[in-house]
Amino acid sequence: MKYSTPKVSVTPPGPKAREVILRDERVVSPSNWRYLPLVLKDGEGAFLEDVDGNVFLDFNAAAATQNLGVDHPRVIERIRGWLDNFVTYLDIPGLFYHEVVVELCEKIATITPGKYEKRVFLGLSGADAAETAMKLARWYTRRPRFIAFTGSNYGVTGIGALSLFGFNIGVLRGFSPLMPGVTHVPYPYPYRWPFGEDSSDCGMQVLEYLEKHIFRTVAPPDEVAAIFVEPILGDGGVVVPPDGFLEGLQAICLKHGILLVVDEVQTGFGRTGSMFASDHWKLEPDILMLGKPMGGGLPVSACVARSEIMSWPRGSHVMTGAGYLLGCVSALEAIKVMEEEKLAENAQRVGGFMLKRLKAMRDAYDIVGDVRGKGLLIGVEIVRSKRSKEPGVNEVAKACLLAFRKGLLTAYDGIHGNVFRLTPPLILTEQQARTGMDILEEALATVQREGAGEVESVW
Ligand SMILES: Cc1ncc(COP(=O)(O)O)c(C=O)c1O
Repeated sequence: MKYSTPKVSVTPPGPKAREVILRDERVVSPSNWRYLPLVLKDGEGAFLEDVDGNVFLDFNAAAATQNLGVDHPRVIERIRGWLDNFVTYLDIPGLFYHEVVVELCEKIATITPGKYEKRVFLGLSGADAAETAMKLARWYTRRPRFIAFTGSNYGVTGIGALSLFGFNIGVLRGFSPLMPGVTHVPYPYPYRWPFGEDSSDCGMQVLEYLEKHIFRTVAPPDEVAAIFVEPILGDGGVVVPPDGFLEGLQAICLKHGILLVVDEVQTGFGRTGSMFASDHWKLEPDILMLGKPMGGGLPVSACVARSEIMSWPRGSHVMTGAGYLLGCVSALEAIKVMEEEKLAENAQRVGGFMLKRLKAMRDAYDIVGDVRGKGLLIGVEIVRSKRSKEPGVNEVAKACLLAFRKGLLTAYDGIHGNVFRLTPPLILTEQQARTGMDILEEALATVQREGAGEVESVW
């Protein structure tokens, strides 16, 4: 083990980090998020090391991508074992066949929700899984329209996915016209329900609004190809919908012949305490989007559909790099590790411990407005005060920075940019969780005591 605890010896960004950041600013697209000035050099398990020798405990896991942490030994061994031959060859399955592609698709079809026959289109990113799902839904239903939710992120690197997107106007501004035919409805967000004080039945209200208003006024249901939904909003602020909402959505889809597309790019592969978040509500997606952790740290995504839906003709949807063999073997090993090391169960257990501790912080600090989540997908909504509920935008940024300087890596987003989204690797131990919670609590206590002030530039 290279690391056992966080250790910050040079206030980040240290001199070496600053040098790289300066070069980066000249040549790398400034469109990327970058919550913190962290210049990486190495990592192992739940820890990352920067170029100045600081070691951080990672409560972000590359935005819920590194479910196995960094360089899981079994994944590395499997990749090494593949490196001796036939590594640099692309366009399988675009042009030809290979057994590992079949093996990965068989595995995915077996473990994903729904007992029906499925087919899989492999990809490289969540956004391309969204593009695939949109094309497939239109092709199968011969309908033009889509419903998506405010607060959602289905990817931003294609105009199709971006047209479904709905959690931050800063991401949308300047890119219109987007694809026509997408109608957005509110995601049921109990803590911040825009339509009244009582949010107890906000899930049902959304379903009624969709059926009785949207389907009568602007979107004929017989023209809707698919409804896209995240079972738990990720980037939109870790919003867990009330029970009954997702089941109700599935029923509406069935009634109108609309396909239900469930986006598990962030919630999939054990993150929420079961292999897929759909399992919590017994959802049976017509189309399922997967990505982020699927490749065990290599870029691999998938669009999974009922076989009768994914029956499109030869040549109608192909991508040169999709299904590359190194990604397939890495994904196969990563899934095996998730199953054999029971990482979903660990997420449930350690996540439960973290939620309990965070709820105690909510009760102790006025700036902690809400704590929610499932497994190791946890949202901590920071406010200026519990009474006003005003989003604590500077407060969250300050607490994130203070924690960073003590060796804990976190990130925040949400509709108002004020929600810590805690997504540690699923290998996190209870001891590591405790260490991280201690650092986070110290940061929150400081902001509570001293206020956020003007958040200083960290660059
Ligand atoms: C739920 C969800 N879907 C899709 C995406 C897009 O994934 P990618 O960045 O790989 O395109 C994201 C990314 O954050 C996501 O959280």
